[in-house]
Amino acid sequence: MANESREKWQSRSGFLFAAIGSAVGLGNMWRFSYLASEKGGAGFVVLYLFFTVLIGLPVLLAELTIGRGARSGPVLALEHFGGPAWRWLGVVFVAAGFLILSYYGVIGGWTLRYAFEAATLGFAPDSGAHFEDVASGFDSLATQIVFMSMTILVVSYGIGGGIERLARIAMPGLFVIMVGIALYAFTLEGSGEGYAYYLNFDLEKALALDVVVAAAGQAFFSLSLGMGAMLTFASYLSRESQLAKDTAVIAFSDFGVAYLAGLMVFPLIFAFGLGGEISGSTIGALFVALPKAFATMGFVGRIVGFAFFLALVVGALTSAISLLEVLVSASMDAFQWQRRRAAVTAGVLVTALGAWSAFDLAILDLADSIAINLFLIGGGLGIAVFVGWIMQDPIAEASSGATNSIVYEIWRGLLRFVVPVVLLFVLWHALPETWEKFKAVVGLG
Ligand code: PHE
Repeated sequence: MANESREKWQSRSGFLFAAIGSAVGLGNMWRFSYLASEKGGAGFVVLYLFFTVLIGLPVLLAELTIGRGARSGPVLALEHFGGPAWRWLGVVFVAAGFLILSYYGVIGGWTLRYAFEAATLGFAPDSGAHFEDVASGFDSLATQIVFMSMTILVVSYGIGGGIERLARIAMPGLFVIMVGIALYAFTLEGSGEGYAYYLNFDLEKALALDVVVAAAGQAFFSLSLGMGAMLTFASYLSRESQLAKDTAVIAFSDFGVAYLAGLMVFPLIFAFGLGGEISGSTIGALFVALPKAFATMGFVGRIVGFAFFLALVVGALTSAISLLEVLVSASMDAFQWQRRRAAVTAGVLVTALGAWSAFDLAILDLADSIAINLFLIGGGLGIAVFVGWIMQDPIAEASSGATNSIVYEIWRGLLRFVVPVVLLFVLWHALPETWEKFKAVVGLG
């Protein structure tokens, strides 16, 4: 195999930054805050943490184990440990990456546009109408193309020279910006209502089926699980890496950033009396309510708003990179392509598919629903069954043959019995929502 010349991360922290960069993204800010407000605040947050621990941690460790062990992209990696039949799961992963990146790039484009406007023109006072201009049509297509070009460029520079180098600067920067904005929001008069809204625990609401299902899906999406992104990043690791520790660092950083996003978004929105804007929350919430708050704040609003959307751009870009890397590594494996050729080919095809979402928000919403409810949950199920039941001695592989601690036994137990049951339950209950969206889009009444 051509594995001897395989690229490598330059350091352990470089890998961690990149993996956290993959996890932290629009999921933590855009998706997390609209779900938290739609699904009733703290109850949702607690459930999301619960699923991060119960299913997120085991599946993340499973993906890292397969990737590092096989040292190849998802298709060959699954074949390596499970024989030719399992390569199909890898193919499903690649398809999922394709679908997710298609609309993720569109939203990434919106963040770019907002950051750019904050720095130049300022925020439009009529933020609702402005969002409609930005979000669909040729404007949306144009910003999507710019965002995707940036993604392709970074991936072309490779693992150490592109992805790691960017993540090492961008991720600490993102964190500093977010803490800064959260602290600033804390000082605003009237922000208290925002905390009350966000941190209000309503047990009855939290136990509703749709909230449980959304929390599980969000845990998966936010950790980039179920489609081989973490697997692919781990394939550039060396044997000495400590996967269990890395798993914990990645998962808790990701949760921490989502939680922090709530501490910045809700107080800001409520301090400007815009709570009503997010109660009927939709995918536009973050792009409508917040700019309105920034517009009211005058000059300070432009600075805070620019910082906010810059953080969003950074989060989106480092995640989009990991999505593209799945497609790139798989096509380099399959066709022996050079990295640059793979990045451009895959990137252009994904952008073309995404144009559909750029012109129609209902398609974007449907793609998101299909990607998460079907592909990620289904893919996670596949990984859990694969590592729990099919793969030979996953514990030795995960621990590099080191200590056989109880942690790994628990891990395998979860993968065998708990994760599949939970994911089947979620899959079963998530499908009707996706089906409804599908019917609405194709006009089946
Ligand atoms: N985890 C990313 C986010 O939260 C999205 C993502 C999903 C990235 C799947 C890669 C793979 O925005």
